[in-house]
Amino acid sequence: MNTWTRKDLLALSDLDAGELGIILDTARAFKGVGERNLKKVPALRGKTLVNFFVEPSTRTRTSFEIAAMRLSADVVNIAASASSLIKGETLKDTALNLQALQADIIVLRHSSAGAACFLSSRLDACIINAGDGAHEHPTQGLLDTFTILEKRGPIQGLKVAIVGDILFSRVARSNIHALVTLGAEVTLVGPPTLVPKLFEKLGVRVVHRLDDVLESADVINLLRIQHERQRREYFPGLGEYVSLFGLTKARAARLRPDCLIMHPGPINRGVEIDSEVADGARSVILDQVTNGLAVRMAVLHLCAGGVGLPS
Ligand code: CP
Repeated sequence: MNTWTRKDLLALSDLDAGELGIILDTARAFKGVGERNLKKVPALRGKTLVNFFVEPSTRTRTSFEIAAMRLSADVVNIAASASSLIKGETLKDTALNLQALQADIIVLRHSSAGAACFLSSRLDACIINAGDGAHEHPTQGLLDTFTILEKRGPIQGLKVAIVGDILFSRVARSNIHALVTLGAEVTLVGPPTLVPKLFEKLGVRVVHRLDDVLESADVINLLRIQHERQRREYFPGLGEYVSLFGLTKARAARLRPDCLIMHPGPINRGVEIDSEVADGARSVILDQVTNGLAVRMAVLHLCAGGVGLPS
């Protein structure tokens, strides 16, 4: 398909290569806006966006807020701790009230998989999933893909290793869907408890030794252990995890000179990645954050029917 027809962005598993291409092309058009003195275009003037984050966030919430402001939308932020969810109001009632307040776009982060999908079938407002439990984090998958495309060219055939807690990672799932759809060779790396073989059904390879992928990877994406979603211990201890799966300085020395080192943040320095590696020349971690602005501008513009693209 060559045109965007969706009012919501719920999951990258819903999108085909054409739709991913539309978002990535639109993001490229918006990236230049952030490099201007006047970082604003009128594309969503008159629209109201509500950022509704029921789980903590630094990057995603701020990025959606700045992206919406750059598109000239009005933005309201709601934190769960200061909302009537605390008094027992349901997610559905909260969202219906936001719609009654004439919100055009609701950006939702929630601990339950499917929360954004639940709202999308009940509300006329655009619903953008900013992370739902361990299910998906579509704009993170898009900004990661955009960064790889920007730094390394076409995704087709690139060898991408995603390392760490895949089982509980919504970032991993969104990356897998986008990268496999666009033709990357994706390898998941981690302990068998956190990277079970059943992930191979998504069109990826599963390995349990980081040392086996270091020399061949074009991109290595390190993920945080999601302690907040784990109900039991999945490995004996952090020391053992670092010794087997941490991207230490010694392991980084074995990566190709042009290998991109990525992390969605927040980083646990000294666990999944050493400080010197995270801050080193091959790290694109902060580029990912900057690219999140252009990607989120593109998503908001497309879903909310924004007018005009920057020239
Ligand atoms: N990458 C990411 O989602 O970061 P935040 O939790 O800070 O939004």
